Amino acid sequence: MLVGCQHPVPTAQDGTELWLAASRPYEEVLASVQTAVDPALPAEGYHIYDADGARHIDAGSAAGLRYGVYALQRAEALGQAGPGLDLQEAPRYALRLLNHWDNLDDTVERGYAGESMWEWTSEEIPEARIRHYAELCASIGINGTVLNNVNANPLILDAEHIARVAKIAAILREYGIKTYLSIKWTSPIALSGLKSGDPLDRKVRKWWQDKAAEIYAAIPDFGGFLVKANSEGQAGPQDYGRTHADGANMLGEALAPYGGIVMWRAFVYSPTSPDRANQAVEEFLPLDGKFSDNVIVQIKNGPIDFQPREPFSPLFGKLHDTQMMMEFQITQEYLGFSNHMAYHGTTWEECLDADTYRDGEGSTVARTVMAVAGVANTGQDPNFCGYVFAQANWYAFGRLAWDPELSAEQIADEWIRQTFLCPEGMSGKAFSKKFVAPVRDILMASREAVVDYEMPLGLHHLFGGTHYGPMPWERLARPDWTPAYYHQAGVDGIGFDRTRKGSGNVDQYNEPLASRFNDPATCPEELLLWFHHLPWDYRMKSGRSLWDEICLHYDAGVRRIEDFRATWAGLEPYVAPALFAETAAKLEIQQHDAEWWRDACVGYFQRFSERPLPQDVRPLGQPIDSLVTRFLQSDRLGMPVHDADRRPVLIDIRSFRRPQ
Ligand code: GCU
Repeated sequence: MLVGCQHPVPTAQDGTELWLAASRPYEEVLASVQTAVDPALPAEGYHIYDADGARHIDAGSAAGLRYGVYALQRAEALGQAGPGLDLQEAPRYALRLLNHWDNLDDTVERGYAGESMWEWTSEEIPEARIRHYAELCASIGINGTVLNNVNANPLILDAEHIARVAKIAAILREYGIKTYLSIKWTSPIALSGLKSGDPLDRKVRKWWQDKAAEIYAAIPDFGGFLVKANSEGQAGPQDYGRTHADGANMLGEALAPYGGIVMWRAFVYSPTSPDRANQAVEEFLPLDGKFSDNVIVQIKNGPIDFQPREPFSPLFGKLHDTQMMMEFQITQEYLGFSNHMAYHGTTWEECLDADTYRDGEGSTVARTVMAVAGVANTGQDPNFCGYVFAQANWYAFGRLAWDPELSAEQIADEWIRQTFLCPEGMSGKAFSKKFVAPVRDILMASREAVVDYEMPLGLHHLFGGTHYGPMPWERLARPDWTPAYYHQAGVDGIGFDRTRKGSGNVDQYNEPLASRFNDPATCPEELLLWFHHLPWDYRMKSGRSLWDEICLHYDAGVRRIEDFRATWAGLEPYVAPALFAETAAKLEIQQHDAEWWRDACVGYFQRFSERPLPQDVRPLGQPIDSLVTRFLQSDRLGMPVHDADRRPVLIDIRSFRRPQ
């Protein structure tokens, strides 16, 4: 008998099965149970139990049955499906969507896993990939997907693209996934030559009603529209003197006869405002209660833009009579693309569990929203995500959208056990101890490590160029795209003053948060420089100066990655060679990138603090003067270039060309 043998043989795998690697096929699991639809159960809910010598799945609908089969499949893979299993569940949110930022030329905005998985420019749709994707989504409860970029091309609504979208929707439907589209506000002008985009204009309204009729004729269960309007150069109703509510309700009216919805994004800011973090509340609070029943306002988790750490968006605590939807970012735009290990289970748990105090204590963000969306990290790469560990974020998103009370740790544990196969000749118990536990520890520490080496203590927006590397010194024509606007470093100190003496952002939060954030003594240290501008010698809780603490965090981030590498090196006997090598190489890149972040940020801020590094921090690797004049080289898809030693290739600014 091989169990417990001293020499496990890793099972060959390349990461293309994702978290379904350890499972029996869906059809096989389905065939092994007795199923029944019980309308007394919630529509998407299920009950798995054993009775009369058989295993049963009862569910509120066909969709619920599908989720029940996937839940059983998961329980089997996790070794939790023994006799007496009794599992009854229903999703917390009715809408659990992915948002793909895919363009019709097959590029993917902020995509780091190759070109668009929908292959817009090919003659045929990639059916096998779409099926695989749909199965992965359905297995974690995702029930909707927006196929195209929020910076939408109007052509997505022409006859040719609607026909193509209908083919994709027909496949996704088989897996219980509804199809949605992002639309461009000016579509009536671009596609049909209308003169206006005014939402109160009769012709504009009629255009959208006709377009809705055309879409629903091709896709009877079409989900609806996602809209980015009056944001980052996109047109919108405000260009015609109307409000977000006027615009959203006009689209809502066009979709209502078919049961469609509008997801209207609250990601708005203008270059002239003194604090970008204030703007969503400023624009949307006056509209509370003015949106139609089939409109949901979709809000990013933080008030700026998916930074490694942000406080939750104050809008969640302010709107009472508006349906709200969470927008998380699965793709790692600001956390090392598909090169860095950055498990977002902990990021999202922190946000969902945060108390907004909207309706008194216990009004967590999770309770204020009625739906959840995640910006996808998928592409044409054979493993979908460009890195096996990036798959964990897709998985975690689906699981939290199903049940926001699951812990990030439990989800990490589930994901590892389903993704990495236990080597032949090794007991499950030994595998848990020797592989699952250390990998879970790495995942759980990974996001904080990125925060530390990129933007600790509430610092944010310190990146440049493609959003991969550090450029705290960058100066752009628009202040709100400029790192210096956010870090405010000077000889007097560092941080953005959002207190009552500064931008007043703290008062967009309900009490007791507003007062807590307003006082540096009670503000959580991990958000200190988000809310406060403080002198370099400010005393931290540890007794150290702010400057010393900043240096320590940057160095601790690098050390963490060194530790991850050391741990991973010891896991080689238990993991398939392809996955071992991929991760070892990515961790090496991550360490070098982390060193670059530390050298750039600490070196740059030192110009203002004019203080030495504390004794227990290692010296910087590269002098700041050699970094401020160089820029990261990127390839055609905007991916960073690293050299043979896996160090970022930094080129002289004078020879820098933006990637084509
Ligand atoms: C960020 C991101 C853009 C994106 C925008 C959005 O600014 O860098 O690529 O379009 O968010 O969410 O609309």
